[in-house]
Amino acid sequence: MSLLKRIGGTTPGRDEGAGAQRAGALPPRQSDASARSNSATREQDDNAFADLKSRVQSKLINELDPRLDLSDSVRVQRQVEEVFNSILDSESIVLSRAERTRMFESIAADILGYGPLQMLLSDDDISEIMVNGPKQIYIEKQGKLIKSDVVFNNDEHVLRIIDRIVAPLGRRIDESSPMVDARLPDGSRVNAVIRPLSLVGPVITIRKFRKESLTVSDLVRFGSLTEDMGEFLSACVRARLNIVVAGGTGSGKTTTLNVLSSFIPEDERIITVENAAELQLRQDHVVTLESRPPNVEGRGEVSIRDLVMNCLRMRPERIVVGECRGGETLDMLQAMNTGHDGSMTTIHANSPRDSISRIETMCLMAGMDLPSRAIREQVASAIEVIVQQSRLKDGSRKITAITEVQGMEGDVVVLQDVFTFEQTGIDERGKIVGTLRPTGVRPKFVEKFEALNIYLPPNVFGYSGDRFF
Ligand SMILES: Nc1ncnc2c1ncn2[C@@H]1O[C@H](COP(=O)(O)OP(=O)(O)O)[C@@H](O)[C@H]1O
Ligand SMILES: [Mg+2]
Repeated sequence: MSLLKRIGGTTPGRDEGAGAQRAGALPPRQSDASARSNSATREQDDNAFADLKSRVQSKLINELDPRLDLSDSVRVQRQVEEVFNSILDSESIVLSRAERTRMFESIAADILGYGPLQMLLSDDDISEIMVNGPKQIYIEKQGKLIKSDVVFNNDEHVLRIIDRIVAPLGRRIDESSPMVDARLPDGSRVNAVIRPLSLVGPVITIRKFRKESLTVSDLVRFGSLTEDMGEFLSACVRARLNIVVAGGTGSGKTTTLNVLSSFIPEDERIITVENAAELQLRQDHVVTLESRPPNVEGRGEVSIRDLVMNCLRMRPERIVVGECRGGETLDMLQAMNTGHDGSMTTIHANSPRDSISRIETMCLMAGMDLPSRAIREQVASAIEVIVQQSRLKDGSRKITAITEVQGMEGDVVVLQDVFTFEQTGIDERGKIVGTLRPTGVRPKFVEKFEALNIYLPPNVFGYSGDRFF
């Protein structure tokens, strides 16, 4: 998109105006004024600001060099700033320093960034952004859902920002394809839905990419698991057990998978397969594969399943699949059962028992027509540990069970919890209180730890003193 078109999209006639950056620093108001006149003054201020902004913005459009290379954002920003300052000077517009900054940022955000969203995107404390039509934007900040006072001008304004997000990826959104997934250059995941599917106007959901991924010590600090559980999981990964992280949407599965992956020794070749690359592995020898949705003509799809099959030919020592949702589960199990041990993935399930039946169902989706008993046997022999992740009612995320898959007994897959979370109550602030603790059962696979000289003290499993065997 040319610069002129891009800026042209934000000319006053189309939509520019009030409140796009309402949360920006406003000049201080007199504290003795009544609330009513306060809001009237605020509105006046906003209008004057918007007016001035659109005048400056349209001047900017005329004065900027149309051949400017937009991908060089530093240069563009510098040039916009120069033109902006010279317009203010030549028109003798006097603004306070705060107003000047606010106006420049708002104009720059519309021209170079993601408009009203830019400010929310730049705030590292915000983890999710939910736009429900132009006038309602919710954010998740430190685990809490709050309504932001940032707004768009109208539907058009939101649509233009969606376009700006998806166009560089060669994707588009319109009535014939009103739903789109995309990613921002920083890795944040974006989903957009417009009319006729959305009845409240264009809807955008952004899950921001954490620059610093959470580490095991962060999770211990948050109370998501204990140090002992961390030690135990680290031993499971080093002993090459096959692990499934189960949980609901947003329960922290990917985060936990990332933490588990961090325990993989540095000298192993790791191949990751994901829908949208989210895992951030610190190891050096990592190959990251990402699936591809079909293009607008419905062709060219490369599924997770294709990638899982392909990665077996890439000499993997560890296969980490971001999420199993369908037929790829069967390929994953077969890989786990044929020498690719130490593999890990996540699935959507609400308990360890539920995980087993989900996995069975997903294997059926591979369309191989296997008898269910055969599938169940594959599941029981492939998967050794299930890590159950939950988002509790108070919003906190916890590992509520670490469970050993012991094998088959008759037709049933035998599961044994090694750690569980027991809720004991709710405190006065509504926080859930409880303890994470070992069940006292020592898993059968501890022998694999010992073969690798990994010794966990007996109290990790809930024994006191030196009673171990
Ligand atoms: N144990 C945790 N404590 C606090 N926040 C967490 C925890 N695990 C994940 N999060 C946050 O929760 C959100 C969802 O996590 P994610 O791992 O992507 O969930 P899922 O993969 O289950 O959808 C992210 O913003 C992440 O940073
Ligand atoms: Mg996830």
